[in-house]
Amino acid sequence: MALASQIISPSQQFLLILRTHSLIHICFFDLRLQMLSRLSSRSIRFFNSISSIELTQHPKAGTCLSVDLSNGKTDTNVQVPLIWFRDHCRSVNAYNHTTNQRKSKMLNLFEESRISDRSAVTYDAKQLSINWADGHKTVFDSADLIKMLVKPQQKQPRDLYHLWNGSTIGPLPTVQNSSFSFPEFSQKFVQFGFVSVEGIEQTPEATEKFARSIAPIHDTYYGAFWTFNNKAEQQENYHEDTAYSNEEIGPHTDGTYFPQSPGIQVFHCLRPADRGGKTVLVDAFAAAERLKAENPSAYQILTTTPIDHHYIEKGENPLFSWAPSKPVIELSADGGYAQIRFNPYDRAPLRLSLNGGKGLSTPEDVTAFYEAYQAFSRICHDPTMAVKIQLMPGTVIFIDNLRVLHARTAFSGYRQMCGCYLSRDNLMAKARLHVGEETRLQV
Ligand SMILES: [Fe+2]
Repeated sequence: MALASQIISPSQQFLLILRTHSLIHICFFDLRLQMLSRLSSRSIRFFNSISSIELTQHPKAGTCLSVDLSNGKTDTNVQVPLIWFRDHCRSVNAYNHTTNQRKSKMLNLFEESRISDRSAVTYDAKQLSINWADGHKTVFDSADLIKMLVKPQQKQPRDLYHLWNGSTIGPLPTVQNSSFSFPEFSQKFVQFGFVSVEGIEQTPEATEKFARSIAPIHDTYYGAFWTFNNKAEQQENYHEDTAYSNEEIGPHTDGTYFPQSPGIQVFHCLRPADRGGKTVLVDAFAAAERLKAENPSAYQILTTTPIDHHYIEKGENPLFSWAPSKPVIELSADGGYAQIRFNPYDRAPLRLSLNGGKGLSTPEDVTAFYEAYQAFSRICHDPTMAVKIQLMPGTVIFIDNLRVLHARTAFSGYRQMCGCYLSRDNLMAKARLHVGEETRLQV
């Protein structure tokens, strides 16, 4: 490749047919593509150009296109089976551009992914064309091809989010209802994991209406929307939970006992307590990062050991809510943070796997797990990690329940709250449009 680049003028585009051993190569050189137009200066796509494409035979995968990708500094090669290109054909016969859905049922893709000879593949600086043996034609815009072919480089959590603790958070993420901007709300929600909206009418009805304007309600057996206080006899929808008391509640995420935990928690304090009752928030992604730095083995255990949570209610309407085992710190397939499930109160029995299944079995496993959980819990309860907020009437707070722990200090006097859970999936479907092209694939 280096030799050919020296021979051929950069302004020329050549098709070279090389035969090397048993491989047939069709090489295209010096086809540097334009930089992707929507890159921001802070978010450089790892690969942004294709320097060559070769048709090649892979010993196991069959016919491939060997694609040389460049980021301007380094090159890398990826061999992509021809079937990938047929699967990603964006012609109107293969793809519905109105619904952004493939039309293929995936019944005959291998048969459809054949070409007659090497002349079926052509490439110039702007596009790759493939004439398939069945008469179908696929044309890729080069920039679109890179975007479909290459995952953005996984960002570090600190580059993806504003990881915070009590001293680094800066001004609390707040927006005004009177000048509400969903992009601003979205960006703050993703960056901080919570955002307050000020200037909401101080009624449950207005709160619910505004919450529903952000995302649909995530309903549970607690009800779609709650108005609750610390006087049990006054509760419309009372449950046997410490949330309905005036005791201190430590940092936790809600709904660890649901296979799909509620994604967003909404609170509006309609009447603050006489004393205490502050809301405490902890960035659990920051806590996990701190654990990773201070105690890597504990981090390893909490990211790989699945544990159970449950919610059990007796009485007239008994409940047994249970979620299949998940790690406390759940990572995505790419290594990013997917969800923190931290709720010391709602942990189910730590059952041992004695039949060869995944999980804890030896005494060493059990002790190591408790050491790891305690280490994380101490970080989550470290006052320097927390921000303490006195929720006031008129301010509605939206908390990412997959990232931010919430807690409450003990209080005295009468305190009335209202709130609900919202569908995080629905919020994020809109919010991703406002967080940058690469970030949207990682949050
Ligand atoms: Fe809670």
